[in-house]
Amino acid sequence: MTDSAGAQWTDEPTDFSQVGKLPRGVASPPPASVLGSLNITAAAADPELLDLPWHIKLEEWPAKNLAALPRGISRHVVRFAHLGGSVIAIKETSEHIARHEYHMLRKLQRLDVPCVEPVAVITGRTTANGAPLDPVLVTRHLKFSLPYRALFSQMLRRDTLTRLIDAQALLLVRLHLIGFYWGDVSLSNTLFRRDAGAFAAYLVDAETGELYPDLSTGQREYDLEIARVNIAGELMDLLEGDLIEEKVDPVATSELIMGSYRRLWEELTAKESFELGERWRVGARIRRLNELGFDVEEYAIKTTSDGSTIQLQPKVVDAGHHQRRMLRLTGIDAQENQARRLLNDMDTYRADNNPDLDEEISAHSWVSHVFEPIVRSIPRELGGKLEPAEVVHEVLEHRWYMSEKADRNVPLAEAVQSYIDTVLRHRRDEAAIMLTADTNTMKILEGGVLTDGTEDD
Ligand SMILES: Nc1ncnc2c1ncn2[C@@H]1O[C@H](COP(=O)(O)OP(=O)(O)O)[C@@H](O)[C@H]1O
Ligand SMILES: [Mg+2]
Repeated sequence: MTDSAGAQWTDEPTDFSQVGKLPRGVASPPPASVLGSLNITAAAADPELLDLPWHIKLEEWPAKNLAALPRGISRHVVRFAHLGGSVIAIKETSEHIARHEYHMLRKLQRLDVPCVEPVAVITGRTTANGAPLDPVLVTRHLKFSLPYRALFSQMLRRDTLTRLIDAQALLLVRLHLIGFYWGDVSLSNTLFRRDAGAFAAYLVDAETGELYPDLSTGQREYDLEIARVNIAGELMDLLEGDLIEEKVDPVATSELIMGSYRRLWEELTAKESFELGERWRVGARIRRLNELGFDVEEYAIKTTSDGSTIQLQPKVVDAGHHQRRMLRLTGIDAQENQARRLLNDMDTYRADNNPDLDEEISAHSWVSHVFEPIVRSIPRELGGKLEPAEVVHEVLEHRWYMSEKADRNVPLAEAVQSYIDTVLRHRRDEAAIMLTADTNTMKILEGGVLTDGTEDD
């Protein structure tokens, strides 16, 4: 549990003088003459979109508009910019691609798949002289997300890599379940968020994606093959840059995704047959799926003509079992593994305090006696380090280890203080990693070669 992905971050030097917030210049609206015949298709009204310098090529945007955050490798020009209080990602591309990707992301959102949120497509851009500029796709920057290369600014350990690939496999299974053929599965087209020691993967690039009522085995296998080849290439690249342990074999590691994907797919969709007398196996299958984080919304249950055996096959499975239970009980929107971890603590809390209390009332009490006090005790300047749900998960874990070591029940307040002093302070900000990045990290993220780090910024 402690050999989690988190461990490596604590070793990094922390710049305590770093302020942690980007100065945001007050944008002066562009003169009406340069707005020209701008055409904005947006999911919600974001009037601030009009204040951005669309009449300038993305590569030449002024620094005051840009947000320095880590970015993965891309074919197109992609930049992060400030929009009101949030950050957006802007990609310059063709109108056809921008519209296709925008609509695809909207559909995926409605289908509840983890992906970036589309904000707008903007066409009709021209320079002040009237020369045409490429259309853009705007998405909301996914907070606390990390492109995989950002995870490698410290040497990446093999087990962390395995978790990354498991997260990627789960994302692919979820996409395939709803009939999405990705066509360009790669670590570069995925964003990762910490999820209680593991990772949660989000789709970021839907350019090549297509939605079907159902995918054939051939289509799924083809996507999986693309994933394997791309991941092998990406890992070789990292190995060349000395960013992963030498004992990591890129090809063998990339093949892990096949096993991880197929096991999960089988568990979620396989048809099972059993004797009528073994009916309990229906319940057991459901519990297994719940444990994996899925709810089953529809089954096909058939009996054979002589009535002696039952066939069971889940038909509609939905990810987010723990996430939904967490949201229903507490209103806290956590990721799946975080929710699973926090629900465990909540169940223990109920058993320890008042097992007969109604589940919802007990959950409410847990939020105000455990969750909120932890979140409130995080000093403001450390607030950008990790997501609140991830902090609470880490504190609970920390408390558990402290208690075991001291052989007594360490009070929550003591555990929180110890966690802040010995762990959290030493992590770098994940809400905005680039603020602390050195030259080498910049190079890694830009896909450049590592130097010995002696040059200055
Ligand atoms: N909404 C977003 N949130 C966070 N990062 C993003 C977002 N959109 C793009 N990025 C970053 O920009 C990179 C390139 O975006 P992508 O859509 O893959 O462009 P391309 O089509 O050129 O490959 C991604 O790997 C990711 O790191
Ligand atoms: Mg891409």
